[in-house]
Amino acid sequence: MGFKEEIKRRRTFAIISHPDAGKTTLTEKLLLFGGAIHVAGAVKSNKIKKTATSDFMEIEKQRGISVATSVMGFEYDGYKVNILDTPGHQDFAEDTFRTLTAVDSVIIAVDAAKGVEAQTRKLMEVCRMRNTPVIVFINKMDRPSKDPFDLLDEVEEELKIKVRPLSWPIGNGPDFKGVYNLFEKSLYLFDPGKQVVEEGVSIEDINDNQLDTDIGEESSELLREELELVEGVYPEFEMDSYRDASVAPVFFGSALNNFGVRELLHCFLKIAPTPQPSQAEERMVNAEEEKFSGFVFKIHANMDPNHRNRLAFLKICSGKFERNTNYKHVRLGKNMKFSSPTAFMADKKSIIDEAYPGDIVGLPDSGNFKIGDSVTQGEDLHYKGLPSFSPELFRYIENADPMKSKQLAKGIDQLMDEGVAQLFTSQFNGRKVIGTVGALQFEVIQYRLLHEYSASCRYEPINLYKACWLKSDNKEQLDDFKKRKLQYMAKDKYGRDVFMADSAYMLQLAQDNFKDIEFHFTSEF
Ligand code: G4P
Repeated sequence: MGFKEEIKRRRTFAIISHPDAGKTTLTEKLLLFGGAIHVAGAVKSNKIKKTATSDFMEIEKQRGISVATSVMGFEYDGYKVNILDTPGHQDFAEDTFRTLTAVDSVIIAVDAAKGVEAQTRKLMEVCRMRNTPVIVFINKMDRPSKDPFDLLDEVEEELKIKVRPLSWPIGNGPDFKGVYNLFEKSLYLFDPGKQVVEEGVSIEDINDNQLDTDIGEESSELLREELELVEGVYPEFEMDSYRDASVAPVFFGSALNNFGVRELLHCFLKIAPTPQPSQAEERMVNAEEEKFSGFVFKIHANMDPNHRNRLAFLKICSGKFERNTNYKHVRLGKNMKFSSPTAFMADKKSIIDEAYPGDIVGLPDSGNFKIGDSVTQGEDLHYKGLPSFSPELFRYIENADPMKSKQLAKGIDQLMDEGVAQLFTSQFNGRKVIGTVGALQFEVIQYRLLHEYSASCRYEPINLYKACWLKSDNKEQLDDFKKRKLQYMAKDKYGRDVFMADSAYMLQLAQDNFKDIEFHFTSEF
């Protein structure tokens, strides 16, 4: 197969949802279709139990599991599908944000009874920022659900995107009879006892009497009415409006019952984008370009605490990646060869000789990589789109064992490279502040420092509201600001100036008094 064909057959995407909406179940069913796994339950739930705030064993297990399930590749009908998993726990939202920079499209799972929930809304904001095309799967139709029109309105309103249903549910809960597939014009009947669904009944004309025979007169009357309304209200499905992320196609089904999943997959494969161009600081890079390039969006560390080995997840943006070939680590300006790059197929990983744009390869690493690093065939490219977000929670981190200060420094450094949290160093007194999006990270850091680096840390409270990255064309004003606010100035790990505002009021005051300075809540603007 030629290079271009290899790219064209790739579909790299993530499934996102609020915890419990059915992401894991849907992933698993897709893998079953792909023949990548053979029994249900093979995909371990990649989530920390919601109740366990300090169950460290759970965190450890979690980290073990999530390497295997971070990327799940499978072959289906000539396509190479790459599903990138995202952590369900909201304290790891930043991990999810970064993963979303490595996908070309997204499937959003929504619970039909609960509708759009908080976490989904947040993740959709990231998709919107990057214009990522999304398909919505309304799950759990076998349970009493909200009215489908209400659900669609809710999706439009809450996720701020127009929708176009491509399937339509017939009833819900105990009365769920199936879905009518508008994309294929066929009827799929639901049988809760059966896990695998047979071919749908093709019904070109919904006025056909066949429909009444299949689902009963009452249901078919209602379905006809609703479909008429659907066609009246929602514009025809257009590939372009899906691809430019202005319209989200919507499917209904039940992942647990394997219902509506195959239709979702078939449609997804037809319409989802192939590997898209990637934006580097220097220029736009096309997937079809011959020279290899890619970036690291995730680092997984210390699977075995006795070996400081890490796995850097590299997304291939252009060209063919080959084993044992010299590539340039752009930040370090250094050539490197990778003798055992791994690919991820469902729940296995194995060494590969080559990989293509859209694929993710795992590079064993002894500490050379940071999140956001670019690797190329020589060109100095810096891939964009891996911003740091202002953390929500802050604490001073202090060394609790004076004999181990080196270990602590190294441990903190490496954990920050992995993107577990952000480190800010005060320009005023040199104290180190850890910023996170969730409270759980503080425990993870403390635990991992101890177990992987034999270092102990303790935290001290600090009252901070937000970390802001600064930008200004007025150098004089910026310098003046930094001097006056020295107490509140810090450097992030890349040495950039950060203003640590201790309240919304203080930030507002700074914005009012220093009109030429922009205060940003993300590091990329
Ligand atoms: P998540 O990854 O988004 O957090 O959700 P997950 O797939 O783990 O699903 C959450 C719960 O919802 C699971 O039940 C799962 O079995 C159930 N579920 C998923 N899809 C459907 C569906 O279509 N219909 C119904 N009725 N339930 C569904 P659980 O009891 O929390 O976990 P488990 O012990 O069954 O694994």
